[in-house]
Amino acid sequence: MALDIRVGHGLDSHRLAPGRDLVIGGVTVPGSPRGAEAHSDGDVLLHALADALLSTFALGDIGQWFPPGDRAHAGRDSREIVAAVLERLRAERPAAQVVNVAAVVILDAPKLGHLRATIAASMAELLGLPGTAVGITFKTSEGLAPDHVQASVTLLLHG
Ligand code: C5P
Ligand code: MG
Repeated sequence: MALDIRVGHGLDSHRLAPGRDLVIGGVTVPGSPRGAEAHSDGDVLLHALADALLSTFALGDIGQWFPPGDRAHAGRDSREIVAAVLERLRAERPAAQVVNVAAVVILDAPKLGHLRATIAASMAELLGLPGTAVGITFKTSEGLAPDHVQASVTLLLHG
């Protein structure tokens, strides 16, 4: 018998490099001197979200679907990755619907608190949810990882 409720979890980490846009949850952070060094747009939050979605039904991870060395994905908007993952998930489980998302972003600078609602709305739109269904916690690494940006996403899925 199929379970109705599934949990998903994803984690992603990228090195920060100068001269790149910092994209978090589909939102470009204005004025950031550094962004994630990555093959795609380096959006750690959406990568963690995509992996969390895939994990709900043991569908592997985004490295399998979007190989890092594949030139077709260079500079790719990670919203497209999430959309493709949702399509894959719904092929497996047509009734699948995310209930809520709990995310943590670890970044020393810049501060992101003022963008919390914007980032939540951006993620919620991708998932067809109200912004209040996406909770985001921002944390510094307390200087332990000043050159990294990391995100962790836990979600609950129905269907
Ligand atoms: O990591 P720490 O507990 O020192 O974070 C303190 C506050 O700074 C938190 O309220 C968090 O929301 C905020 N913060 C932020 N942007 C970051 C890191 C932390 O707004 N990049
Ligand atoms: Mg990534």
